[in-house]
Amino acid sequence: METEKEESVLFEALVTYISKNGIKRSILPVFKTNDFALYKEDCLETMSRFPDNYVDMIFADPPYMLSNNGITCHAGKMVSVNKGKWDRSKGFEEDLKFHETWIKECRRVLKPEGTIWISGTQHSIYQCGFLLQKLNFHILNDITWFKPNAAPNLACTTFAHSHETLLWARKEKKTRHTFNYELMKEGRFPEDKMKMFDKQMRSVWSIPTPPAEEKEFGKHPTQKPLALLRRIILASTKENDIVLDPFNGGGTTGIAAKLIGNRKYIGIDIEKEYIEQTINRYMKLKLLPAILF
Ligand SMILES: C[S@@+](CC[C@H](N)C(=O)[O-])C[C@H]1O[C@@H](n2cnc3c(N)ncnc32)[C@H](O)[C@@H]1O
Repeated sequence: METEKEESVLFEALVTYISKNGIKRSILPVFKTNDFALYKEDCLETMSRFPDNYVDMIFADPPYMLSNNGITCHAGKMVSVNKGKWDRSKGFEEDLKFHETWIKECRRVLKPEGTIWISGTQHSIYQCGFLLQKLNFHILNDITWFKPNAAPNLACTTFAHSHETLLWARKEKKTRHTFNYELMKEGRFPEDKMKMFDKQMRSVWSIPTPPAEEKEFGKHPTQKPLALLRRIILASTKENDIVLDPFNGGGTTGIAAKLIGNRKYIGIDIEKEYIEQTINRYMKLKLLPAILF
């Protein structure tokens, strides 16, 4: 059990930084514990105050820029595709500029041996992939997250969208990154009907969209399933690593990190509602004596 003093020293690493002129300054998260910090702010503004080479792994699920007043199907009903103001496209060039700015900042705060994951659909993933290459990341994998329970296509004019792409890249070409190979090969992934026990983990993952119990504190429109983030964190981090999610949303990355244990998490989101949702999810974990995950 850590003492209070140890906890505050540990947390200090998450909330203070040495500015370029050598002065120690504080960043104020809206929520903090010894291993979990949340910022309700623009991620560019927040990350600009972090030191270089600071975090071990970044999971980024940026706006997909697909809120264009179209329609989709949810629970058998016709609904708007609009996720929120934050998800509206400003046009190809502006969207590209936005992605370039945050990916550049992620590169600066990532340790040399660190890795970044970026998730997206056809609306954003090609721009992000292009930028990872332009900014000298080394792409390790592109994972297809297949959703076996994806919604049908109402217009019947294209194939039904049933996957998202996850790019996994290392900051530097010639460093050694963390990949927990054996754990991926031999671990238990009961949600994935495609994963064969004791066979190498392949690059197509079958994971259903989040179940209702993962949305008990609110429905984030693009919330990822815990099983997806659990796999990502287990595969690409080690104990005591700092995991950053600049587009925290409903906090799936942080909650998965907390469930796995022995990781520090920093989440950033501009929307108060999503930060509150994350805090509620975190507080619930604190009340549970033990969780099998
Ligand atoms: C695709 S969602 C992330 C969902 C998240 N992965 C989850 O599982 O809940 C993108 C999130 O980014 C936030 N966002 C958009 N622009 C932002 C910015 N400039 N800085 C910080 N957060 C931003 C939105 O509020 C939204 O919650």
